[in-house]
Amino acid sequence: MKNLLFFLLITSAVFAQEKHRPQLHFTPPSMWMNDPNGMFYASGTYHLYYQYHPESTVWGPMHWGHATSKDLMRWEHQPVALYPDSLGLIFSGSAVIDHQNTSGFGKNGIPPVVAIYTSHNLEWEKAGRIDRENQSIAYSLDGGQTFTKFAGNPVIKNPGIADFRDPNVSWYAPGKKWIMALATQDREAFYSSPDLKNWTKESEFGAKMGAHGGVWECPDMFPMQVGGKTKWVLIVNINPGAPNGGSGAQYFVGDFDGHQFTPQDEETRWIDYGRDNYAGVTFHETGDKRIFMGWMSNWDYATVVPTESWRSANTLPRDLKLVALDGKYVVASTPIEAVSNYVKSKQTIKSNNTIKTASALQRLTGKLPVQDFSITLSNSKGEQVIIGFEASTNRYFVDRDASGDMKFSNKFAGKAYAPRLSKSNTIDFTLITDVASAEFFADGGLSVLTTIYFPSETFKNLKITSAKGLPFLLEELKPSM
Ligand code: FRU
Repeated sequence: MKNLLFFLLITSAVFAQEKHRPQLHFTPPSMWMNDPNGMFYASGTYHLYYQYHPESTVWGPMHWGHATSKDLMRWEHQPVALYPDSLGLIFSGSAVIDHQNTSGFGKNGIPPVVAIYTSHNLEWEKAGRIDRENQSIAYSLDGGQTFTKFAGNPVIKNPGIADFRDPNVSWYAPGKKWIMALATQDREAFYSSPDLKNWTKESEFGAKMGAHGGVWECPDMFPMQVGGKTKWVLIVNINPGAPNGGSGAQYFVGDFDGHQFTPQDEETRWIDYGRDNYAGVTFHETGDKRIFMGWMSNWDYATVVPTESWRSANTLPRDLKLVALDGKYVVASTPIEAVSNYVKSKQTIKSNNTIKTASALQRLTGKLPVQDFSITLSNSKGEQVIIGFEASTNRYFVDRDASGDMKFSNKFAGKAYAPRLSKSNTIDFTLITDVASAEFFADGGLSVLTTIYFPSETFKNLKITSAKGLPFLLEELKPSM
C-alpha cells in the first residue's frame, strides 16, 4: 500500500512536469492511445479500456489498455487487459455484464464481464484480403481485470466488407436478446444474439442518411427518456467527414423496435463541433444516466502532435440528455457534476479586463444576452486561443490559428464553428481548460466545441470581451491525477 502511494505520488509529480500533459483529463501513462473502449460501471467502479500501443507513441498493434475510477475524474492505471492474438489486433469494441449468464461463461454465480471487439488481421490486410476484420469476444470473471478469449472466435465472420468493426453491444430487455451495432463501411448493421456467441443480422441503417465524407466507425445505440417517452440515440463516428474537418461524431435520434432503427428525420446532427472529440461512446450500466467520453484528437494529426512520452487524452466525461427543440429531439452534453469536486478557488471577474490566472486548469461560466463575445486564452509569447460567439452568423467558434506549436501538421491551425441551436435570448456557457485543451459548452450543452492546442508556455492570461462589463465566475481547478 505504502509502495503504491509512493508510486502514485511520483507519477503525478512526473506528469505535472511534462509539457502539454493534461492534469484533469485521462491520459495513458505513456505511449499511444486512441478510442475509448468497453466502458462500464460496476460495484462503485468505472472501467475504461482504450486502444493502446504500449511500445510506441504512434499507432501500431492495438491492445486494450485499462484504467479504473471511482468518480470518472481520478483514474488508476491497470495492467493491459487484451493483447493481440493469432486472429489479429484488438480493435475497438464494448463490454457488457452478462447478468443472466446467457453466455455460460459465468462461474459460481459470478456474472461474467464480456468484451466484444474486432479482431483485425494485419497480415491479411497486407495481403489485400477484404475479410481482415471479424468480431470476437473474451470474458472476465474478476470484474474486468483479466480476460480469457473465447475458443470459438470469431463470433461474426466477415461477409466481404473491408471496414467491418467496432461492435457495441447491449441487452435489449423487451426482446430478451443482445443487440449489436456494428460499423460496416458506409452504414450501421444491427445484429442480435441470445448468448453473445451466435449472432443474426437484423437490419441496416444509414446508407442514404447522415454524413458520408468518410468511413463509419465506433457506433453506440441506447435508449433515453424524454417527456415520458423512450427515444433511441444512435451515435456514429465518422472519419473523415466532420463539419470542421477530419474525425467527428454524428448522431441520430429515433426509435428502435428490436430489429430496426428508424430516425425522427433526415438531418445530420453532431455531438460536438470541435475538431477534437472522436470515437466517443457511452458507459454501460449507469442506470438512468448516460455518460459519454471521446478521444480528444483527430486522425488528421493525432500521430504527430508534439507530446513526448505519450499521445492523446480523452474528453472530460459528459452527461448526455435528450432535449425537445423545434419539435425534434436533440442531444445536449455537459461535463459531469463531479468536476465541481475539483474546484480549488473561485472569483468573480468582469469582462474587458485581462486576468492573470494561477494555473491553466480552470472552469469559466457565464450568462449574457445574445451578442458577440470572445474569451481569449493567451501567454506572454503572444500565443492564443479565442473562443466566442458571432451574432451575425449565429455561430460559436474556436480559433487556434495562433495557438503555439502548429508546425507538425498543416491541418491543425484554423477556426472551427458550431451553429447556435438554442432560441433563448440569453447565452449560458461553461468553458473548461486544462493545459492543452478547451471544452466549450453553450446553451446547456446544445452547442459544443472541443479543441486541443500546444502553446510554448501554458495559457495563464484570460480576457473576456463583450459589449457590457458583465460578471463571470472563474474557478481554479485541482489536478485529478
Ligand atoms: C477509430 C478506429 C476504429 C478502430 C480503431 C483502431 O479511431 O479507426 O474504427 O477500431 O480506431 O485503432
